[in-house]
Amino acid sequence: MSDVVTVIAPINIAVIKYWGKRDEKLKLPLNDSISGTLDANVMCSKTSVCARPEFKEDRIWLNGAEQSKTILQNCLQKIKDIACDQQSVEKEFLSWNVHICSENNFPTAAGLASSASGYACLVTALAKLYKIKADLSALARIGSGSACRSIYGGFVHWHAGIKPDGSDSFATQVVNTDHWPEMRVLVLVVGDSKKHTSSSIGMKITAKTSALMKYRTEINVPLRVTSMCDAIKQKDFASFAEITMKDSNEFHAVCLSAYPPCVYLNDISHKIINLIHKYNDLFDSPKVAYTFDAGPNACLYLLEKDVPNVVSMIKHVFPSTNPDFIKGLPCNEAKNVEFLNNINFKQENIDLLKYMIYTKIGDGPKVIDNGEHLLNVNGYPLEK
Ligand code: DP6
Repeated sequence: MSDVVTVIAPINIAVIKYWGKRDEKLKLPLNDSISGTLDANVMCSKTSVCARPEFKEDRIWLNGAEQSKTILQNCLQKIKDIACDQQSVEKEFLSWNVHICSENNFPTAAGLASSASGYACLVTALAKLYKIKADLSALARIGSGSACRSIYGGFVHWHAGIKPDGSDSFATQVVNTDHWPEMRVLVLVVGDSKKHTSSSIGMKITAKTSALMKYRTEINVPLRVTSMCDAIKQKDFASFAEITMKDSNEFHAVCLSAYPPCVYLNDISHKIINLIHKYNDLFDSPKVAYTFDAGPNACLYLLEKDVPNVVSMIKHVFPSTNPDFIKGLPCNEAKNVEFLNNINFKQENIDLLKYMIYTKIGDGPKVIDNGEHLLNVNGYPLEK
């Protein structure tokens, strides 16, 4: 049997955003946040780890390139400390160095939260390697805040906590993967070469300079978190959608109120926002919710029954020459597109959207036992 442990882990897309830290080092947030975990069969990180006496140092490879081991040091040390306390493995095993190889199955250019799936994967794999029993969400959080929410499937709530040591800052599941089986997600990847301020730096500037931030974290988010949990539990899509869009808009408004401002949305993002509002206005209650992270790509939450119309509308408004425009799950388009005449929306220039990914809510990290590791028998990355 191989001594390599391999795990796949999902990304998550927040519907109540985490933005701002109360402790930089421990990655403790200023506010609670809530996200949907996306199907790892469509988008995931995969990580293989192994420890051997002959390894000269800890090494980590990410998407084919070796990285500085500083990115894993915090999580690795914490897990080794727990293993030592729990005496879960031999002392000698703890002294061996580790090799880690990790890959995302989605293009990094998609600008999606690969650090969340990456750290959820790393922590789950190391916890298995060192046989520890611990709250993996709190360990993943040390790598990247939002990673703590990728430890569970379904919809997940990250509790900010108030304790200085962070012991009350962890994620819990709001509902499991099967609770709202009709929920779907369309990720619209916007062609954009601009390098945006990283989340960590953006949060720091915003927390330090935005006068609106306090109002968001202390007043608005706590109210929204309660209503969002209720909306999810009751499968109330209209409330879910309204809260999601309002929180995304407020998050970006707060970013704009930083000094200097953090600008993540671009013209195409705003065109998508307008389109979704125009579409929703055709109905009594919203059918689609947009949300944007620290970049211009849109994530649309919607129910399965509305997917054909929404996909046809997007393809109509944002014409594409990409033959592989829709990736992910098999996706039907509307047979009758007459409703498009009711949306007085001009067709945009060609190829403003690079492609879209169609996916759904999925499970948390999974240990892979089919032997398909990323490290070879010598513990080095497989040649591609
Ligand atoms: C906009 O988790 O990437 O996606 O804790 O500094 O690693 P660090 O930040 P990160 O921030 C994610 C911010 C967000 C909103 C969210 O996912 O809640």
